[in-house]
Amino acid sequence: MSIQQQVSLRPFNTFGLHVEAENFAAFTNVEELQSLLRHAKEKKWPLFILGGGSNVLLTQDVPGLTLHNQIKGITAIKEDDRYVWVKAGAGEVWHDLVLWTLDRNWGGLENLSLIPGYVGAAPMQNIGAYGVEIKDTFDHLEAVEMATGAVRSFSLEACQFGYRESVFKHELKGQYIITHVVFRLEKEPTTFHTSYGAIQSTLADMALTELSIQAISKAVIRIRQSKLPDPKVLGNAGSFFKNPVIADSRFRSLQKNYPDMPHYPLPDEEVKIPAAWLIEQSGWKGKRVGATGTHVKQPLVLVNYGGATGAEVWQLAQQIQAAVKDAFGIQLEPEVNVW
Ligand code: FAD
Ligand code: EPU
Repeated sequence: MSIQQQVSLRPFNTFGLHVEAENFAAFTNVEELQSLLRHAKEKKWPLFILGGGSNVLLTQDVPGLTLHNQIKGITAIKEDDRYVWVKAGAGEVWHDLVLWTLDRNWGGLENLSLIPGYVGAAPMQNIGAYGVEIKDTFDHLEAVEMATGAVRSFSLEACQFGYRESVFKHELKGQYIITHVVFRLEKEPTTFHTSYGAIQSTLADMALTELSIQAISKAVIRIRQSKLPDPKVLGNAGSFFKNPVIADSRFRSLQKNYPDMPHYPLPDEEVKIPAAWLIEQSGWKGKRVGATGTHVKQPLVLVNYGGATGAEVWQLAQQIQAAVKDAFGIQLEPEVNVW
């Protein structure tokens, strides 16, 4: 068990923010994790768990013990005529898992290509993109309870997945460390999900002879690379806010003043409004404040131009929330986990 003191978390978060972890340790299996949890309990250290650091905003030094998930391994554990069940260690890079499944022609994760981060954080917010969320292929996960070290399995129902939501962000917040995730993937013939956004037009540009999950993955990668900043070049954590969901009646009253307001109808008489549009209309697209700002192509992405602090990014986020609230009466909710 190797625990380091006063470790800079700059290399461990995609905003590229410098804060220090009082104590820092990586773990590569469940036993190592359980032993670290026992040690932290003896020391009365609070715990913080990091994967790829692509969905956190670190605004202050982290007291206690920061745990870095390095549990590796991807294996097919079961199959029938139609499906194969794939188990992945929570410390695997998400996109590596997607590529591994594409190599075997197993369908379900292709629309989620190139999402940064590790497998273990994916269930935290039920990651989603281009018409697919992990709940669509999720089978179950294994997690270790922080307080006791006990291993528990969570079914799809137990995870309570919603749009960028799960039980781990609410009732069970800060209580479990996810160690493995199992997905149920389709064998050939696989279902293609191509109706969302620019997938169809991008596929058409690619002049394919045949549609495949590999082609969908390439199309998604192409769209993402054209829109979203690469964190290696410009610090960011993807969409900073969730797209707000409002009642249909509220939307219709706003629409009187904003006839061009984009919107996506949902069940239960609700409507999703793109936060990017609200932010752009509030005058914040591409705006820079000191070393922070909103991305020039996608204002929902807050960026660190270099040298910003987490507190400065959080201040910018709050200014944007206030501007959108002022203009539209809509409260934007952070998607990113603010520490
Ligand atoms: P981290 O940032 O390390 O952690 C996120 C949260 O989960 C923290 O609260 C952390 O404490 C907790 N956590 C981490 N690992 C575990 C674990 N093993 N057990 C329990 N809790 C844990 N997200 C989408 O949904 N769709 C997108 O299209 C998308 N695009 C993005 C594009 C860019 C350029 C970037 C930078 C981010 C994007 N994201 C997107 C957000 C992000 O990639 C995902 O939320 C991803 O799942 C975060 O993984 P991570 O390992 O980096 O998590
Ligand atoms: N828009 C503007 N101005 C802009 C950009 C976008 O008005 O500068 C409006 C347009 O109406 C556009 C709409 O916003 O049609 C949606 O934009 P986009 O297609 O870029 O998607 P998004 O809603 O901003 C969501 C997710 C992304 C995910 C994409 C693709 C959330 C919070 N974000 O973004 O996820 O990759 O759809 O599915 O749901 C993330 O979670 O970090 C993330 C990047």
